[in-house]
Amino acid sequence: MRLLNFDDSHIDASTQEKIRKLLPSAKDALDNIINKNCAGSEYTGWFNWPKHGGFDLVSQLQDFKDSFDTYYDLILVIGVGGSYVGTKAIAESLGHQYVTTLSQYPDHAKECKKPFTPIVYAGQHLSETSLIQLLELLDKFQPIINVISKTGTTIEPMVTFRILRKYMENRYGYKEAQKRTLVTTDEQSGALRSIAKDKNYSAFPVPSDIGGRFSVLTAVGLLPLALAGYNTEELMAGANQLFSELLMPMDDTKVHPTAQYAAFRKTSWEAGKRIEILAYHEPQLSALIEWWKQLYGESEGKNGQGLYPVGHCYTTDLHSLGQYAQDGCRNLIETFLTIKNPNLSNLAGLENRIRIPHIENNDDGLGYLENRYLSEINQSAMEATKMAHLEGGVPCAEIRLQTLDERNIGYLIAFFEVSCSISALLMGVNPFDQPGVEQYKKNLFSILGRD
Ligand code: PA5
Repeated sequence: MRLLNFDDSHIDASTQEKIRKLLPSAKDALDNIINKNCAGSEYTGWFNWPKHGGFDLVSQLQDFKDSFDTYYDLILVIGVGGSYVGTKAIAESLGHQYVTTLSQYPDHAKECKKPFTPIVYAGQHLSETSLIQLLELLDKFQPIINVISKTGTTIEPMVTFRILRKYMENRYGYKEAQKRTLVTTDEQSGALRSIAKDKNYSAFPVPSDIGGRFSVLTAVGLLPLALAGYNTEELMAGANQLFSELLMPMDDTKVHPTAQYAAFRKTSWEAGKRIEILAYHEPQLSALIEWWKQLYGESEGKNGQGLYPVGHCYTTDLHSLGQYAQDGCRNLIETFLTIKNPNLSNLAGLENRIRIPHIENNDDGLGYLENRYLSEINQSAMEATKMAHLEGGVPCAEIRLQTLDERNIGYLIAFFEVSCSISALLMGVNPFDQPGVEQYKKNLFSILGRD
Protein backbone atom coordinates (compact mmCIF):
# COMPACT_ATOMS: atom_id res chain seq x y z
CA MET A 1 0.00 0.00 0.00
CA ARG A 2 1.26 3.46 -0.89
CA LEU A 3 2.07 5.59 2.11
CA LEU A 4 0.81 8.78 0.52
CA ASN A 5 -1.57 9.92 -2.12
CA PHE A 6 -1.70 12.99 -4.29
CA ASP A 7 -5.08 14.62 -4.78
CA ASP A 8 -5.70 17.33 -7.37
CA SER A 9 -9.41 16.64 -7.74
CA HIS A 10 -10.42 20.15 -6.65
CA ILE A 11 -8.57 21.91 -9.46
CA ASP A 12 -10.73 23.09 -12.37
CA ALA A 13 -11.43 20.55 -15.13
CA SER A 14 -9.39 22.24 -17.87
CA THR A 15 -6.25 22.37 -15.71
CA GLN A 16 -6.78 18.74 -14.76
CA GLU A 17 -6.94 17.87 -18.43
CA LYS A 18 -3.63 19.69 -19.04
CA ILE A 19 -2.04 17.80 -16.15
CA ARG A 20 -3.31 14.53 -17.58
CA LYS A 21 -1.78 15.34 -20.98
CA LEU A 22 1.59 16.00 -19.36
CA LEU A 23 1.72 12.69 -17.51
CA PRO A 24 3.39 10.70 -20.33
CA SER A 25 6.24 13.27 -20.38
CA ALA A 26 6.54 12.99 -16.60
CA LYS A 27 6.76 9.23 -16.97
CA ASP A 28 9.46 9.59 -19.65
CA ALA A 29 11.42 11.86 -17.33
CA LEU A 30 11.18 9.22 -14.61
CA ASP A 31 12.37 6.52 -17.01
CA ASN A 32 15.31 8.74 -17.94
CA ILE A 33 16.27 9.09 -14.29
CA ILE A 34 15.99 5.33 -13.77
CA ASN A 35 18.04 4.61 -16.91
CA LYS A 36 20.59 7.33 -16.12
CA ASN A 37 19.75 9.03 -19.35
CA CYS A 38 18.90 12.51 -18.10
CA ALA A 39 20.79 15.77 -17.56
CA GLY A 40 23.10 15.33 -14.56
CA SER A 41 22.68 11.54 -14.60
CA GLU A 42 26.11 11.14 -12.96
CA TYR A 43 24.41 12.38 -9.75
CA THR A 44 21.50 9.96 -9.63
CA GLY A 45 23.09 7.57 -7.13
CA TRP A 46 20.30 8.44 -4.66
CA PHE A 47 17.76 6.61 -6.84
CA ASN A 48 17.18 3.13 -5.41
CA TRP A 49 19.95 3.92 -2.90
CA PRO A 50 18.53 1.64 -0.17
CA LYS A 51 19.35 -1.41 -2.28
CA HIS A 52 22.60 0.02 -3.64
CA GLY A 53 24.20 0.75 -0.29
CA GLY A 54 21.61 2.26 2.05
CA PHE A 55 20.66 -0.88 3.95
CA ASP A 56 24.34 -1.90 4.30
CA LEU A 57 25.13 1.55 5.62
CA VAL A 58 22.36 1.26 8.23
CA SER A 59 23.98 -1.84 9.70
CA GLN A 60 27.52 -0.42 9.49
CA LEU A 61 26.41 2.66 11.40
CA GLN A 62 24.60 0.55 13.96
CA ASP A 63 27.83 -1.40 14.52
CA PHE A 64 29.72 1.86 14.86
CA LYS A 65 27.19 3.11 17.41
CA ASP A 66 27.36 -0.14 19.39
CA SER A 67 31.16 0.05 19.59
CA PHE A 68 31.31 3.79 20.34
CA ASP A 69 32.47 3.82 23.95
CA THR A 70 32.51 7.55 24.68
CA TYR A 71 29.64 9.00 26.73
CA TYR A 72 27.70 11.81 24.97
CA ASP A 73 24.43 13.57 25.67
CA LEU A 74 24.40 16.04 22.76
CA ILE A 75 25.25 15.75 19.08
CA LEU A 76 26.48 18.82 17.25
CA VAL A 77 26.07 18.63 13.49
CA ILE A 78 28.22 21.14 11.61
CA GLY A 79 27.09 21.61 8.01
CA VAL A 80 25.13 23.76 5.60
CA GLY A 81 22.52 23.11 2.89
CA GLY A 82 22.15 19.43 2.14
CA SER A 83 24.76 18.62 4.77
CA TYR A 84 22.48 19.48 7.69
CA VAL A 85 18.91 20.35 6.75
CA GLY A 86 17.77 16.80 5.98
CA THR A 87 18.99 15.58 9.37
CA LYS A 88 17.14 18.41 11.05
CA ALA A 89 14.04 17.65 8.98
CA ILE A 90 13.91 14.04 10.14
CA ALA A 91 15.01 14.65 13.73
CA GLU A 92 12.39 17.34 14.29
CA SER A 93 9.56 15.64 12.39
CA LEU A 94 9.87 12.60 14.62
CA GLY A 95 11.29 14.01 17.80
CA HIS A 96 10.16 16.14 20.68
CA GLN A 97 10.33 19.90 20.18
CA TYR A 98 11.68 20.42 23.71
CA VAL A 99 14.22 17.59 23.54
CA THR A 100 17.23 19.71 24.56
CA THR A 101 15.51 21.00 27.67
CA LEU A 102 13.88 17.70 28.61
CA SER A 103 17.10 15.75 28.19
CA GLN A 104 18.47 17.55 31.25
CA TYR A 105 15.91 15.81 33.46
CA PRO A 106 16.97 12.21 34.15
CA ASP A 107 13.37 11.18 34.98
CA HIS A 108 12.32 12.11 31.50
CA ALA A 109 14.69 9.64 29.84
CA LYS A 110 13.37 6.88 32.10
CA GLU A 111 9.71 7.58 31.34
CA CYS A 112 10.08 8.31 27.68
CA LYS A 113 9.56 5.54 25.15
CA LYS A 114 12.15 6.89 22.75
CA PRO A 115 14.54 9.25 24.49
CA PHE A 116 16.40 10.68 21.51
CA THR A 117 19.72 12.39 22.17
CA PRO A 118 19.33 16.06 21.24
CA ILE A 119 20.94 17.20 18.01
CA VAL A 120 21.96 20.84 17.59
CA TYR A 121 23.32 22.51 14.48
CA ALA A 122 26.07 24.93 13.52
CA GLY A 123 27.91 25.93 10.37
CA GLN A 124 24.88 27.04 8.43
CA HIS A 125 25.64 30.75 8.84
CA LEU A 126 28.40 33.06 10.01
CA SER A 127 26.72 34.62 13.04
CA GLU A 128 29.18 35.28 15.86
CA THR A 129 26.36 35.83 18.37
CA SER A 130 24.84 32.49 17.54
CA LEU A 131 28.16 30.68 17.92
CA ILE A 132 28.82 32.26 21.32
CA GLN A 133 25.41 31.02 22.47
CA LEU A 134 26.13 27.58 21.08
CA LEU A 135 29.43 27.39 22.98
CA GLU A 136 27.55 28.25 26.16
CA LEU A 137 25.18 25.38 25.48
CA LEU A 138 27.98 22.93 24.72
CA ASP A 139 29.57 23.73 28.09
CA LYS A 140 26.50 22.28 29.82
CA PHE A 141 26.69 18.96 27.94
CA GLN A 142 29.14 16.25 26.91
CA PRO A 143 28.97 16.75 23.15
CA ILE A 144 30.22 14.83 20.16
CA ILE A 145 30.60 16.73 16.92
CA ASN A 146 29.92 15.55 13.41
CA VAL A 147 31.29 17.90 10.77
CA ILE A 148 29.72 17.28 7.37
CA SER A 149 30.83 18.78 4.06
CA LYS A 150 30.91 16.81 0.85
CA THR A 151 33.40 19.14 -0.81
CA GLY A 152 35.24 20.02 2.38
CA THR A 153 35.63 23.58 1.10
CA THR A 154 32.39 25.28 2.14
CA ILE A 155 33.23 28.34 4.15
CA GLU A 156 30.44 28.30 6.79
CA PRO A 157 30.99 24.75 8.13
CA MET A 158 34.77 24.86 7.68
CA VAL A 159 35.15 28.11 9.64
CA THR A 160 32.85 26.76 12.33
CA PHE A 161 34.75 23.48 12.49
CA ARG A 162 38.05 25.30 12.94
CA ILE A 163 36.59 27.11 15.97
CA LEU A 164 34.97 23.96 17.34
CA ARG A 165 38.11 21.84 16.94
CA LYS A 166 39.95 24.31 19.16
CA TYR A 167 37.08 24.31 21.66
CA MET A 168 37.02 20.51 21.87
CA GLU A 169 40.79 20.20 22.23
CA ASN A 170 40.92 22.88 24.92
CA ARG A 171 38.11 21.26 26.81
CA TYR A 172 38.89 17.56 26.46
CA GLY A 173 42.54 17.38 25.43
CA TYR A 174 43.68 16.00 22.10
CA LYS A 175 42.90 12.27 22.55
CA GLU A 176 39.38 12.67 23.88
CA ALA A 177 38.56 15.44 21.39
CA GLN A 178 39.67 13.13 18.63
CA LYS A 179 37.23 10.44 19.76
CA ARG A 180 34.44 12.99 19.98
CA THR A 181 34.97 14.28 16.43
CA LEU A 182 33.36 12.50 13.50
CA VAL A 183 33.82 13.58 9.90
CA THR A 184 31.49 12.99 6.95
CA THR A 185 32.89 14.02 3.57
CA ASP A 186 33.70 12.94 0.03
CA GLU A 187 34.95 9.37 -0.26
CA GLN A 188 38.40 10.45 -1.47
CA SER A 189 39.06 14.12 -1.96
CA GLY A 190 38.86 17.49 -0.20
CA ALA A 191 40.40 19.26 2.78
CA LEU A 192 38.13 17.55 5.27
CA ARG A 193 39.16 14.10 4.08
CA SER A 194 42.85 15.08 4.56
CA ILE A 195 42.16 16.54 8.01
CA ALA A 196 40.34 13.35 9.03
CA LYS A 197 43.31 11.29 7.88
CA ASP A 198 45.94 13.47 9.55
CA LYS A 199 44.06 13.72 12.84
CA ASN A 200 42.78 10.16 12.77
CA TYR A 201 39.14 11.16 13.18
CA SER A 202 36.49 8.54 12.44
CA ALA A 203 35.39 9.35 8.89
CA PHE A 204 32.32 8.43 6.85
CA PRO A 205 31.84 8.80 3.10
CA VAL A 206 29.38 10.81 0.99
CA PRO A 207 29.07 8.82 -2.25
CA SER A 208 30.42 10.82 -5.19
CA ASP A 209 27.28 10.22 -7.29
CA ILE A 210 24.92 11.71 -4.67
CA GLY A 211 24.70 15.51 -4.40
CA GLY A 212 24.24 17.36 -1.11
CA ARG A 213 20.49 17.92 -1.18
CA PHE A 214 19.85 14.29 -2.13
CA SER A 215 22.19 12.91 0.53
CA VAL A 216 20.10 12.72 3.70
CA LEU A 217 19.80 8.93 3.57
CA THR A 218 23.59 8.50 3.26
CA ALA A 219 25.95 8.88 6.24
CA VAL A 220 25.22 12.63 6.02
CA GLY A 221 21.89 12.14 7.78
CA LEU A 222 22.06 8.59 9.01
CA LEU A 223 25.13 8.90 11.21
CA PRO A 224 23.78 11.64 13.51
CA LEU A 225 20.29 10.16 13.41
CA ALA A 226 21.56 6.69 14.35
CA LEU A 227 23.69 8.13 17.16
CA ALA A 228 20.66 10.04 18.41
CA GLY A 229 18.56 6.86 18.55
CA TYR A 230 16.30 7.16 15.49
CA ASN A 231 15.26 4.01 13.70
CA THR A 232 17.35 4.40 10.54
CA GLU A 233 16.38 0.97 9.26
CA GLU A 234 12.73 2.02 9.09
CA LEU A 235 13.67 5.27 7.35
CA MET A 236 15.53 3.25 4.73
CA ALA A 237 12.63 0.79 4.45
CA GLY A 238 10.25 3.68 3.74
CA ALA A 239 12.49 5.04 0.97
CA ASN A 240 12.94 1.53 -0.39
CA GLN A 241 9.18 1.11 -0.59
CA LEU A 242 8.86 4.21 -2.77
CA PHE A 243 11.69 3.22 -5.12
CA SER A 244 10.34 -0.34 -5.38
CA GLU A 245 6.93 0.99 -6.46
CA LEU A 246 8.60 2.99 -9.22
CA LEU A 247 10.64 0.04 -10.41
CA MET A 248 7.63 -2.25 -10.73
CA PRO A 249 6.15 -2.44 -14.22
CA MET A 250 3.43 0.23 -14.24
CA ASP A 251 0.39 -0.12 -16.44
CA ASP A 252 -0.44 3.11 -18.25
CA THR A 253 -3.75 3.62 -16.47
CA LYS A 254 -2.05 3.84 -13.08
CA VAL A 255 -0.12 7.03 -12.57
CA HIS A 256 2.32 7.35 -9.75
CA PRO A 257 1.90 10.36 -7.40
CA THR A 258 5.54 11.41 -8.07
CA ALA A 259 4.57 12.04 -11.71
CA GLN A 260 1.21 13.62 -10.81
CA TYR A 261 2.77 16.15 -8.46
CA ALA A 262 5.49 17.06 -11.01
CA ALA A 263 2.87 17.46 -13.76
CA PHE A 264 0.74 19.68 -11.49
CA ARG A 265 3.72 21.97 -10.91
CA LYS A 266 4.75 22.17 -14.58
CA THR A 267 1.17 22.81 -15.73
CA SER A 268 0.92 25.59 -13.17
CA TRP A 269 4.21 27.10 -14.37
CA GLU A 270 2.89 27.13 -17.94
CA ALA A 271 -0.29 28.85 -16.71
CA GLY A 272 1.86 31.70 -15.35
CA LYS A 273 2.11 30.60 -11.71
CA ARG A 274 5.46 31.45 -10.13
CA ILE A 275 5.24 30.50 -6.45
CA GLU A 276 4.39 27.25 -4.74
CA ILE A 277 3.27 27.31 -1.14
CA LEU A 278 3.74 24.05 0.74
CA ALA A 279 1.19 24.33 3.54
CA TYR A 280 1.47 22.15 6.65
CA HIS A 281 -0.33 21.87 9.94
CA GLU A 282 2.20 20.23 12.26
CA PRO A 283 4.82 22.77 13.43
CA GLN A 284 7.31 19.95 13.92
CA LEU A 285 7.46 19.72 10.11
CA SER A 286 9.00 23.16 9.71
CA ALA A 287 12.54 21.80 9.16
CA LEU A 288 11.17 19.27 6.68
CA ILE A 289 9.69 22.20 4.77
CA GLU A 290 13.13 23.89 4.85
CA TRP A 291 14.59 20.71 3.36
CA TRP A 292 11.87 20.71 0.67
CA LYS A 293 12.60 24.38 -0.09
CA GLN A 294 16.29 23.64 -0.57
CA LEU A 295 15.56 20.57 -2.70
CA TYR A 296 13.22 22.40 -5.05
CA GLY A 297 14.91 25.80 -5.01
CA GLU A 298 18.36 24.46 -5.87
CA SER A 299 17.18 21.76 -8.24
CA GLU A 300 14.71 23.74 -10.30
CA GLY A 301 15.61 27.42 -9.95
CA LYS A 302 17.95 27.95 -12.87
CA ASN A 303 17.92 29.36 -16.42
CA GLY A 304 15.04 31.67 -15.46
CA GLN A 305 12.83 28.69 -14.56
CA GLY A 306 11.27 27.25 -11.45
CA LEU A 307 8.44 27.82 -9.01
CA TYR A 308 9.71 29.71 -5.96
CA PRO A 309 9.17 27.38 -2.98
CA VAL A 310 7.76 28.79 0.26
CA GLY A 311 6.28 27.16 3.34
CA HIS A 312 3.17 28.19 5.29
CA CYS A 313 2.54 26.71 8.72
CA TYR A 314 -1.20 26.69 9.42
CA THR A 315 -3.01 27.82 11.33
CA THR A 316 -0.18 30.15 12.48
CA ASP A 317 0.35 31.73 9.06
CA LEU A 318 -3.38 32.17 8.46
CA HIS A 319 -2.98 35.15 10.75
CA SER A 320 -0.24 36.67 8.58
CA LEU A 321 0.53 35.31 5.10
CA GLY A 322 -2.92 33.73 4.80
CA GLN A 323 -4.21 37.14 3.73
CA TYR A 324 -1.82 37.17 0.75
CA ALA A 325 -2.64 33.60 -0.18
CA GLN A 326 -6.35 34.38 -0.17
CA ASP A 327 -6.29 37.71 -1.88
CA GLY A 328 -2.86 38.83 -3.13
CA CYS A 329 -1.24 38.45 -6.55
CA ARG A 330 -2.67 35.31 -8.24
CA ASN A 331 0.67 33.80 -9.27
CA LEU A 332 0.45 31.11 -6.55
CA ILE A 333 -0.26 27.45 -6.30
CA GLU A 334 -0.62 25.67 -3.00
CA THR A 335 0.13 22.09 -2.01
CA PHE A 336 -1.24 20.95 1.32
CA LEU A 337 0.94 18.40 3.10
CA THR A 338 -1.43 16.67 5.48
CA ILE A 339 -0.99 13.80 7.92
CA LYS A 340 -3.90 11.39 8.06
CA ASN A 341 -3.28 9.92 11.50
CA PRO A 342 -1.28 11.75 14.13
CA ASN A 343 1.39 9.55 15.67
CA LEU A 344 1.92 10.22 19.31
CA SER A 345 4.07 7.17 19.97
CA ASN A 346 7.31 9.13 19.52
CA LEU A 347 6.34 11.68 22.09
CA ALA A 348 7.88 11.44 25.50
CA GLY A 349 5.56 9.49 27.75
CA LEU A 350 2.49 11.18 26.30
CA GLU A 351 -0.16 8.51 25.96
CA ASN A 352 -3.29 10.54 26.23
CA ARG A 353 -4.83 12.32 23.28
CA ILE A 354 -6.07 15.84 23.90
CA ARG A 355 -9.80 16.45 23.67
CA ILE A 356 -11.48 19.79 24.27
CA PRO A 357 -12.64 19.62 27.90
CA HIS A 358 -16.09 20.38 29.31
CA ILE A 359 -16.41 23.72 31.16
CA GLU A 360 -19.45 24.20 33.35
CA ASN A 361 -20.86 27.53 32.17
CA ASN A 362 -19.31 27.52 28.67
CA ASP A 363 -17.97 31.00 29.43
CA ASP A 364 -15.69 31.01 26.37
CA GLY A 365 -18.47 29.88 23.99
CA LEU A 366 -16.39 26.91 22.81
CA GLY A 367 -18.89 24.31 23.97
CA TYR A 368 -19.54 23.22 20.37
CA LEU A 369 -16.00 21.82 20.26
CA GLU A 370 -16.36 19.76 23.43
CA ASN A 371 -14.92 16.29 23.39
CA ARG A 372 -13.33 16.66 19.96
CA TYR A 373 -9.66 15.87 19.45
CA LEU A 374 -7.47 18.88 18.86
CA SER A 375 -5.94 17.21 15.80
CA GLU A 376 -9.42 16.78 14.30
CA ILE A 377 -9.97 20.53 14.64
CA ASN A 378 -6.55 21.13 13.10
CA GLN A 379 -7.48 18.94 10.09
CA SER A 380 -10.74 20.84 9.72
CA ALA A 381 -8.82 24.12 9.65
CA MET A 382 -6.69 22.77 6.77
CA GLU A 383 -9.81 21.69 4.90
CA ALA A 384 -11.45 25.09 5.43
CA THR A 385 -8.28 26.86 4.26
CA LYS A 386 -8.02 24.76 1.14
CA MET A 387 -11.64 25.54 0.24
CA ALA A 388 -11.10 29.26 0.86
CA HIS A 389 -7.93 29.41 -1.23
CA LEU A 390 -9.55 27.49 -4.07
CA GLU A 391 -12.39 30.00 -4.01
CA GLY A 392 -9.75 32.75 -4.01
CA GLY A 393 -8.33 31.42 -7.28
CA VAL A 394 -5.34 29.42 -6.02
CA PRO A 395 -4.97 25.97 -7.62
CA CYS A 396 -4.67 23.65 -4.62
CA ALA A 397 -3.56 20.04 -4.40
CA GLU A 398 -2.91 17.76 -1.46
CA ILE A 399 -0.20 15.28 -0.51
CA ARG A 400 -1.68 13.09 2.20
CA LEU A 401 0.80 11.07 4.25
CA GLN A 402 -0.44 8.21 6.42
CA THR A 403 1.29 9.18 9.64
CA LEU A 404 4.49 10.59 11.08
CA ASP A 405 6.92 7.79 11.73
CA GLU A 406 10.31 6.77 10.35
CA ARG A 407 8.86 4.65 7.56
CA ASN A 408 6.50 7.36 6.33
CA ILE A 409 9.19 10.05 6.52
CA GLY A 410 11.67 7.86 4.57
CA TYR A 411 8.97 7.32 1.96
CA LEU A 412 8.13 11.03 1.80
CA ILE A 413 11.78 11.99 1.35
CA ALA A 414 12.19 9.59 -1.55
CA PHE A 415 8.87 10.83 -2.97
CA PHE A 416 10.06 14.45 -3.02
CA GLU A 417 13.51 13.54 -4.39
CA VAL A 418 11.97 11.69 -7.33
CA SER A 419 9.15 14.12 -8.00
CA CYS A 420 11.46 17.13 -7.78
CA SER A 421 13.86 15.57 -10.30
CA ILE A 422 10.97 14.88 -12.69
CA SER A 423 9.69 18.41 -12.20
CA ALA A 424 13.09 19.99 -12.96
CA LEU A 425 13.52 17.82 -16.04
CA LEU A 426 10.06 18.88 -17.26
CA MET A 427 11.23 22.48 -16.80
CA GLY A 428 14.22 21.65 -19.00
CA VAL A 429 16.92 22.12 -16.36
CA ASN A 430 19.56 19.85 -14.84
CA PRO A 431 18.14 18.98 -11.39
CA PHE A 432 21.48 18.03 -9.90
CA ASP A 433 23.78 21.03 -10.29
CA GLN A 434 23.73 24.41 -8.54
CA PRO A 435 25.82 26.83 -10.63
CA GLY A 436 24.14 29.86 -9.04
CA VAL A 437 25.51 29.08 -5.59
CA GLU A 438 29.09 29.60 -6.80
CA GLN A 439 28.73 33.31 -7.57
CA TYR A 440 28.46 34.49 -3.96
CA LYS A 441 31.34 32.23 -2.95
CA LYS A 442 33.61 33.80 -5.59
CA ASN A 443 32.67 37.30 -4.42
CA LEU A 444 33.17 36.39 -0.76
CA PHE A 445 36.59 34.88 -1.37
CA SER A 446 37.58 37.98 -3.28
CA ILE A 447 36.28 40.36 -0.54
CA LEU A 448 38.08 38.33 2.16
CA GLY A 449 41.29 38.25 0.13
CA ARG A 450 41.66 34.52 -0.51
CA ASP A 451 44.28 33.80 -3.22
O1 PA5 B 1 22.79 20.47 -2.55
C1 PA5 B 1 23.93 20.87 -2.52
O2 PA5 B 1 24.85 20.31 -3.17
C2 PA5 B 1 24.34 22.02 -1.64
O3 PA5 B 1 23.26 22.61 -1.03
C3 PA5 B 1 25.32 21.54 -0.57
O4 PA5 B 1 24.70 20.59 0.23
C4 PA5 B 1 25.81 22.71 0.29
O5 PA5 B 1 26.31 23.75 -0.51
C5 PA5 B 1 26.91 22.21 1.23
O6 PA5 B 1 27.97 21.67 0.52
P1 PA5 B 1 29.09 20.82 1.22
O7 PA5 B 1 28.49 19.59 1.77
O8 PA5 B 1 30.08 20.51 0.14
O9 PA5 B 1 29.70 21.68 2.31
